[in-house]
Amino acid sequence: MSEMIFREEALQEMERIRNRYPDKRAALIPVLHIAQREAGYLSSDCKEMVARLLDIPPVDVEGVARFYTMFKNRRMGRYLIQVCTTLPCALMGAEQMVDYLSHKLNVKVGGTTADERFSLVTVQCLASCGTGPAMMINGDHFENLTPEKIDNILAELP
Ligand code: FES
Repeated sequence: MSEMIFREEALQEMERIRNRYPDKRAALIPVLHIAQREAGYLSSDCKEMVARLLDIPPVDVEGVARFYTMFKNRRMGRYLIQVCTTLPCALMGAEQMVDYLSHKLNVKVGGTTADERFSLVTVQCLASCGTGPAMMINGDHFENLTPEKIDNILAELP
């Protein structure tokens, strides 16, 4: 069954977290983090399994998984590049940074490079509004972007 998509240790970790909360729903975000860490992204099977584990409706899991940009709902590259295009960043040149990344990596917005190294998406505010343009690569935050800065950031990725 779909539980097989997770290692036994990961399932136990999820159960431990679930059992910490009187209301199982409170464990949803940490459990989704584990699911994503295990599977790489939150497939329908992952989300169904999490819904069963926490005994909550699948639509609730889907809603949370789609609301937070930290959750990936489809297979992505090793590095997920999220560029903020909300107004303050847009005024500082966010669209030019998106175009630069798109050309440099040869990938469309919403797409993944052929070698599956990078996925490029645009997102709403990353809470760096005064120091835009801003982006995140996986969990790391970058601000005051310029093409040169982007070159350096990408060159330093392992
Ligand atoms: Fe871009 Fe807030 S508007 S980080």
